[in-house]
Amino acid sequence: MITVVLATGNPGKVRELSRLLSGLDVELVGVKDVLGQALEVPELGDSFESNAVEKARRVCAATGLVSVADDSGLEVLALGGRPGVRSARFAHERATDAENNAALLAALEEEVDRRARFVCVLALATPWAEQVVTVRGVCDGKIARGVSGSGGFGYDPLFVVERADGKTMAELSAEEKDALSHRGLAVRALAAELERLLARQRHEAENIAFLR
Ligand code: IMP
Repeated sequence: MITVVLATGNPGKVRELSRLLSGLDVELVGVKDVLGQALEVPELGDSFESNAVEKARRVCAATGLVSVADDSGLEVLALGGRPGVRSARFAHERATDAENNAALLAALEEEVDRRARFVCVLALATPWAEQVVTVRGVCDGKIARGVSGSGGFGYDPLFVVERADGKTMAELSAEEKDALSHRGLAVRALAAELERLLARQRHEAENIAFLR
């Protein structure tokens, strides 16, 4: 079994990633569990990929452990892809989910075209390889005219999922969200990468045992 550090402090993401990765033969730990404190990595990149890679790389370097980072957000077509990488800070720098939702409704007040998508990029960094692997999951939908539902986090109460019969993400059960969400899709792609990693590690351990 290998230990994997989740390079995120967002409680909504930690909850979902732990749930989604629980089927794998890995021990999941948080950055605080390893370092005793959070590691602030500023999100300076202009893409989900660059932010996720930076977070995974920094946490991997600081802990010496395999690290998985998530950078995700909402892209609204009529807003030219905003809020995008600034999803957590759409209303202002330290915005709450409720403030971001209110700001989004205000920005789309007159708008008829409400198409949007959630994007999740996961990055996997290992202490023994330079290259950081990334995977991406996308979930299509549209922005409702008001909030509904109490599940999930972030923009979930405003996001009507294309494949969920008019329900918002916040009206889905945890299992339903995992089956359809951007994060669920990305995690399933990442699981394949982690399986490869585990297989290689097993192979190397067998080789070492053989040479002894
Ligand atoms: P960051 O990746 O920490 O920059 O934050 C991403 C932001 O995007 C979150 O704070 C949410 O506002 C939003 N977001 C990402 N994933 C989800 C999701 O699954 N549901 C709702 N909002 C999300």
